[in-house]
Order: sequence, then structure tokens, then C-alpha cells
Amino acid sequence: MEKLVIEGGRELHGQVRISGAKNAALPLITATLLAKGVHVLRNVPDLRDTRTILRLLESLGVTWERQGHTLRIDATDLNCSEASYELVKTMRASVLVLGPLLARLGRARVSLPGGCAIGARPINFHILGFEQLGVTCRLEHGYVDAEIDGRLQGNTVYFDIPSVTGTENLLMAATLAQGTTLIKNAAREPEIGNLVDMLIGMGAEIEGRGTDLLTIHGVEELQAADTAVIPDRIETGTYLIAVAAAGGEATMTHCNPGHLPALLEKLRAVGLEVSGQDDEITIRALRQRPLKGVDIKTMPYPGYPTDLQAQFMALMTLSNQTAVVNETIFENRFMHVAELKRMGADIRIDGHTAVVAGLGRGGLTGAPVMATDLRASSSLVIAGLAASGRTEISRIYHLERGYENLVSKLSGLGARVWKTQE
Ligand code: EPZ
Repeated sequence: MEKLVIEGGRELHGQVRISGAKNAALPLITATLLAKGVHVLRNVPDLRDTRTILRLLESLGVTWERQGHTLRIDATDLNCSEASYELVKTMRASVLVLGPLLARLGRARVSLPGGCAIGARPINFHILGFEQLGVTCRLEHGYVDAEIDGRLQGNTVYFDIPSVTGTENLLMAATLAQGTTLIKNAAREPEIGNLVDMLIGMGAEIEGRGTDLLTIHGVEELQAADTAVIPDRIETGTYLIAVAAAGGEATMTHCNPGHLPALLEKLRAVGLEVSGQDDEITIRALRQRPLKGVDIKTMPYPGYPTDLQAQFMALMTLSNQTAVVNETIFENRFMHVAELKRMGADIRIDGHTAVVAGLGRGGLTGAPVMATDLRASSSLVIAGLAASGRTEISRIYHLERGYENLVSKLSGLGARVWKTQE
């Protein structure tokens, strides 16, 4: 297996071109199952996860081709409604085929995703929602067997927790239902707005974009459309925090400052100069200026994103004060703490809260560490960039799930980083 090697302690300067959002590309790719014809998706990042979902669609009878960051996907000959455990176990987002398969074929057999490093990741809200639309769901042998005679029936769906993929699954299913569906307490992440835009472009009738109440008037049929994937706000935030931690000045291009309201405020509270305009964000992090300790509490959008919690914690290990990190979304999203402590960080966990006693800039030392999940891995990269000496990160397949061209983007900022065999 490969590992990532970082010679830390160097400032980062220059530009990073942000890729399309992984968590928007995945539902947009599965939404192509809803309509025959050739769909065009632009700005699609080439990641382990996008390659996985395309393999899954191939197994259902879909054909596709990639030209650069543009995908052409043809779901005309969709002829299978079963998503195998082999594929689903590697990526939980595979459950996003459930809604489109039920809407298009009236049946779906999808392996339960199983847990992952950050939590149990149940899909009970997805299943409850489909049952509200008339679907019969049976859970057996580790699979969800879902089917309905005829069309889905519009109804009201309420999410106890504003589930992102739950909202996306029900939204896609409702577009072809008989009658109107209300999704209450819907998630409001920008990736859902991107999906709403694609579905409307395909002929769906949807009201409430960007709010927690989505109203979908079902239609008989949808048509293939041409849609662009929005910039990846989590990749953007990860690089902003990396520059903050290492020191320097850099601009993120082809991004959307409006999709990071919480992070930009938190970085300013830490004492960093952050300015966003049009599709760029510039951050200035003077190394001689100490970092303030700032608390975060992860919340559904537009609150502070859980996918940027580990990265911000790495930054807080370098402040001159204490910071409290409260993870409210997932039950086990502190896997990076033990690894950061190997680099000298002073962090104490108490349930869903971690107390970070900042060491000041230069407080971390490089060490061999292990990646456990996608975002925990990126927090180790950030720590390695700021630490003195060499950091070696193993199991970097986690990183490759969500960060396109990570080594070249970091090298472009002046980082000393390369891959090597374990
Ligand atoms: C999406 O996961 C993202 N993945 C995650 O990003 C992100 O961390 C998460 O939303 C929260 O923002 C994709 O979009 C592909 P949820 P999702 O359903 O939809 C509980 C990354 O690093 N829940 O909003 O699976 C759940 O356990 C990944 O890119 C239920 O209990 O998250 C969690 O505690 C990691 N039952 C909370 O709700 C359900 O049926 C929020 O989960 C569904 C969710």
C-alpha cells in the first residue's frame, strides 16, 4: 500500500484550483437513473468514490464515458435493480441508487451499507420515507428489498434529523411519484440545491430550494439534462485550514465563498485574514501572529460542517489558547485525535467533546501516523504540513476517496509532499 510523506514546517503560497464537489457528484450521478437518454455532467471530480458509483451504475446496465471532468451517462438500458454488497460496502453513498431505482423501475435490492469508521450510519430515515410513498421494504440477509406495484404515491415525509442523503434519496424518488410530496425538516446543504437544479433541468417540478421544506409535484417522465457540479466546499475548507496551519498566503479559485459561511467566520475569529469574492477565497496567515483558540460545534448546514471538524481541530493544536470541539452529527468522529497526539498534540476527549490545549505554532513534530477515514486523514495532512520534521501517513486510499490531485495541489503551494510504497 502507498503512504504519503510530508516534510513539514514550510509556508504555503500560491493558488489552488478547487474541484467539483464529491458529495454533489454522487447524487447527481445516481439521478441519471431517473431518465433515458444521454446526461451530461460537468466539473465531475475524478475520485475513488466517483469511480465506485460509476462501477455500480455499470452493473445496473448504465453506460458512461469521461472526457476530462465531463461525464456522459446513458441510463436508457437500465436493466438491473440490485446493488451488490461488494460495491456498497466500500461506499455508503451507494444507497443513493435506492430512490431513482424505485422511481424508474418500482423495485430495488440494495445492500445495507454497514457501518464505517465514523459511525453506524443507519438508513432508517430513508426507509421510513420510502414507506410513506407506498413502498414495501424488507430487511433480510443484509439487503434492503424494496418494491411497489405501479408508481410511488406522493405523501408527506418528515426527517427527525435533516439527513443529507436521506433528503436526496426521497427528493429523487418523489420527482416521478403520483401527486405531491412534502419533505419536512429537509437538509439544506448546497449539494442538495445542486441536485434540485439538475432535477428541474430534467423536467421535475420542485419548490423550496435551499429551505427545510421541499415540495415536489410528481411528473410522468423526465428527460436527460446538462448539469455542472458545484465546487467542493469541503476541499476548499481543507486547503484554507492547511494554509492557516502552515502559514503563508494562498487563493482558492473556482470555489464558492457563499458555501462556507461558518468556516470563514471561525477562521477570522482565529485571527486570520480571509476574503471571499466571486469564485475565489484568499487567506493570509502570518506565522508571527499567534492563533486564537476558537470553539466549534458541528451542526447541519449552514452550521459548522462536521466534514471540516477534524481539519479545524488540527489547526487548534497550534493555537496559543484552549479550544473546545463538539461533534454533534456522528458518534465516532474523533479517530484523528489519537494520531494527532502522536505528533505531540494535547487533546482530551470527553464523550462528543474534545478539549484542545494549543501548543502554539511549531508545537507539533512529524511522526508515522495512520489514516482512518477520509476527513481524519486530511487533518493528519494539515498537521504534517505544520509540524517540524517528517510525517508519514499510511492507508492513504482514504484520502483518495475525496481529494483530487492532492499531492500536485499541495506541491503547487510549495509543500514538500510525495507518495511512496509502504
Ligand atoms: C452526508 O452523509 C455526507 N456524505 C457526509 O460526508 C457528511 O458528513 C454528512 O452528510 C453530514 O453532513 C455524502 O453526502 C455522500 P446524514 P449522510 O444522513 O447523508 C443519522 C464525507 O466525508 N442518520 O446527514 O450519510 C446519521 O447516523 C462524508 O464526505 C440516521 O440516524 O449523513 C448521522 O448521525 C462523511 N438515520 C446524522 O443522521 C438515517 O436514516 C446525519 O447523517 C440517516 C442518517
